[in-house]
Amino acid sequence: MNNNNEYNKLKILYSSEEIQKRVTELGKQISADYKENENLLIIGVLKGAFVFMSDLIRAMDIPFSIDFLRARSYIKDKSMGEVLISQMPDTPLEGRDILIVEDILDTGLTLSNISERLLKEHKAKRVKTAVFLDKEERRIIDFSPDYRCFRIPDKFIVGYGLDYEEKYRGLPYVAYLETGDNN
Ligand code: IMP
Ligand code: MG
Repeated sequence: MNNNNEYNKLKILYSSEEIQKRVTELGKQISADYKENENLLIIGVLKGAFVFMSDLIRAMDIPFSIDFLRARSYIKDKSMGEVLISQMPDTPLEGRDILIVEDILDTGLTLSNISERLLKEHKAKRVKTAVFLDKEERRIIDFSPDYRCFRIPDKFIVGYGLDYEEKYRGLPYVAYLETGDNN
């Protein structure tokens, strides 16, 4: 598969080894922060977060349960967007301490909207966020994650769960597609 021409155009940003090292560190940090908590619910945002989440939870050594939701964001104009949650977790959320796990934080629309809805509409007790990648300069909404693995430049990233037109999710590293406009 990696001999395919398209895959040769990928520039690696973080190798599998670098990712494993950082994700393990983050798992330990989250475990330490939540060690007094017996009721943590970790919610992954499908589809992109499933690879990061599977490594992150295996680096943790505290009790927790997991669930997933599915969300999509639409940009309406430069400062406005809409987020559609097309699949909610089965787990009741009221009163729960929740950590949302997401592949990448870009404009901030998806995570800020999901966090607010879990708190206000679904009455979660507390919502924190953990993201694998953070493209800080792309933000249109003032939002910071509680945990992040890597801050990255404004490039379109694939691999480790992230896709371009549903391809590349299975790469064990993250890379950007080299194109004429360098994006
Ligand atoms: P936000 O609402 O703009 O923060 O969007 C986050 C979502 O956009 C992520 O969950 C991804 O699905 C998608 N996304 C943003 N940047 C990238 C990228 O570089 N590669 C792949 N997907 C991306
Ligand atoms: Mg996503």
